[in-house]
Amino acid sequence: MARIFDGSKLVIASHNLGKVREIGDLLAPFGVETVSAGDLGLPEPAEDGLTFIANAEIKALGAAKASGLPALADDSGLEVAALGGEPGIYSARWAGPNKDFTAAMALINEKLGSTTNRCANFTCALTLAWPDGEMASFEGKVFGDLIWPMRGHKGFGYDPIFVPTGHTMTFAEMDPAQKHAMSHRASAFKQLINACFKNS
Ligand code: IMP
Repeated sequence: MARIFDGSKLVIASHNLGKVREIGDLLAPFGVETVSAGDLGLPEPAEDGLTFIANAEIKALGAAKASGLPALADDSGLEVAALGGEPGIYSARWAGPNKDFTAAMALINEKLGSTTNRCANFTCALTLAWPDGEMASFEGKVFGDLIWPMRGHKGFGYDPIFVPTGHTMTFAEMDPAQKHAMSHRASAFKQLINACFKNS
């Protein structure tokens, strides 16, 4: 059984404002005050793990040890079946230093060429770490197909080319609430809340 989070303050081990806000909102109903690694001036550790969970653990443990508080980290990305799971843990890096996701999506389309297998999934790993080194990790996935050209302007990252199974709109065409009800992040969060938070 995973350890229960019984504190009142949690570090969000991310320097990404969007992620910090989204995670803070998700945890607000549990009376948890969140503070970001960026606000605490914590260094960004090298994400040199080989899996989403390994990278989430590196970020969560680094922040928990540096702050003396429990810390939560998220690592996520897009896995394309016909590309052997690429870009996977390198999803952010495929967009380059300018975070150009239009170019990253065009690269995926170019690499797929005439391949008919357009299956892909998003994965989200969440790790909650305590300063004494204990950790609990959870992984959520959402499956779908890649389309081209891109469609929609909502969301972020690879959302404009991803159509979840059973739907016709891309994640970037959906309202955020619709995406969040079925996303890889929502699935990982549900598991985290059920395992580690009391009022679930
Ligand atoms: P991380 O910040 O290292 O975990 O990088 C995650 C990257 O995966 C993001 O920059 C996006 O490119 C991609 N990604 C993760 N979740 C999503 C999503 O919900 N929609 C679109 N792209 C996503």
